[in-house]
Amino acid sequence: MGLDETLAKRGFLFRSSEIYGGVSGFYDYGHLGTLMKRKFENLWRDYFLGLGENFYEIETTDIMPENVFVASGHIENFVDSLTGCKKCKSDFRADHLVEDKTNETAEHLDNKQLTEKIKELGITCPNCGGELGEVDFLNLMFPLKIGSKDKGALRPETAQGCYVAFKRMFSATREKLPLGLAIIGKAFRNEISPRQGTYRVREFTQSELQIFFDSDKINECENFDEVKDYKLRLKFTDKKDIEEISCGELLDKLPKMYLYYLAKVQQFYLDVLCIPSEKFRLKELNEKEKAFYNKYHFDVEVFSEKFNGFKEMGGVHYRTDHDLSGHEKISGENLHVTIEGKKFIPHVLELSFGVDRNVYSLLEISYKDSVLNLNPKVSPFTLGIFPLVKKDGLGEKGFELYKNLKKDFDCFFDNSGSVGKRYARADEAGIPYGITLDYDTMNDETVTIRDRDSTEQVRVKIEDLNEIIGKLVSKELKFKEIGELVETRKKEDGYRTN
Ligand code: GAP
Repeated sequence: MGLDETLAKRGFLFRSSEIYGGVSGFYDYGHLGTLMKRKFENLWRDYFLGLGENFYEIETTDIMPENVFVASGHIENFVDSLTGCKKCKSDFRADHLVEDKTNETAEHLDNKQLTEKIKELGITCPNCGGELGEVDFLNLMFPLKIGSKDKGALRPETAQGCYVAFKRMFSATREKLPLGLAIIGKAFRNEISPRQGTYRVREFTQSELQIFFDSDKINECENFDEVKDYKLRLKFTDKKDIEEISCGELLDKLPKMYLYYLAKVQQFYLDVLCIPSEKFRLKELNEKEKAFYNKYHFDVEVFSEKFNGFKEMGGVHYRTDHDLSGHEKISGENLHVTIEGKKFIPHVLELSFGVDRNVYSLLEISYKDSVLNLNPKVSPFTLGIFPLVKKDGLGEKGFELYKNLKKDFDCFFDNSGSVGKRYARADEAGIPYGITLDYDTMNDETVTIRDRDSTEQVRVKIEDLNEIIGKLVSKELKFKEIGELVETRKKEDGYRTN
């Protein structure tokens, strides 16, 4: 079974409104997907809000007045290049069609160039082979009416919520910079051709941190020494390969503060999410590829086997004063701050991530032969509790143990079907450890712990379980260090063995 089918079957994610045929670009999360998404969000929250003493999370609305997006530039600039099939009327993103054909980025081509490229490469409608029309722009905003006449829109990025709340929050947090405002919330984009699971959808969750600072201090970064010798995995626009360069060596190219946050983002991926380093890179975007509001722009990318290339998970954006100046102009509110007698508009460094893309990528990286080898920090459940049989008091004992372990870990109780099938279900759900109770448990208060990745099992005392599982999750202990491996029944009963 393929990844998407397993994810739908197991309750991770599936097409929204699927009983009505679904609409492309909209996904629902089931119980396992929701748990995993929350875990990602909590890891993100703890890590990024922990980077500054004046960093806070806020919550702002999904619907905002149209003027917000006039100020931000989205009404004018937030467009993609659309081409339509003259025969079946399907819509496509012109740059994606060219990229799929050439395996090269086409984001920098204008509409005229894209129209010519499509002709030159003989690209026809992927659905019916029909002729494709002239390339034109489509604005990606979802406009709507507020009440009977006021114009509004669903926000295409959470960032704008922080910018419009800046004045209020600056004063509420005692007028200090840097000030970090984070939002984990929905964003909406009317993507022309949503595709590739939740990599490109029309409603998605972003986790974004906006750091407001004095631009004169962009080269003052208190904690820079922490990352001075730390090597970033960078792909520059003018280079073919990834280079590993320390932050200290990059000081002539990029400001200290920007480098510091590039390092912190990389550390989040490698140390917290445990992405193998060879699957990670920070990709510099050139003038044409950069978002319209950015001065420096590196994408955060993770390699996808399924799509055979690096995919964007997030970005580190130096947005300058683009947004606050725009909002000052359109709203008429003074968004300057005065600190130690100096009056200025703060600049913004933005750390921006798509939660759904990251979750999908973690699932994709860990999926092999119907097993999700998810890192315990993001797996929906940490433990599966499996009494061998329901009778002879084992079912009750198992449920008692489940209730106790649930106080400290995310646990899943399963007492139906053969143990082998339960292990297989747990493997598909990405549960890293299985606790099995058998008849010996009733006499000696021991259970087996099964390691999903090696399928090995170790017998331990129930009273030691909490400590052992805690250390396994925090990686203080390796599975083999817990105790002696026990013989497992192989093959019979549906056991998977490596
Ligand atoms: N505030 C800056 C901003 O929104 P972006 O590069 O347009 O920048 C940030 O989006 C992140 O949001 C992307 O790196 C990606 O992870 C996620 N994202 C963007 N469009 C998406 C879509 N259509 N579906 C899923 N995730 C998306």
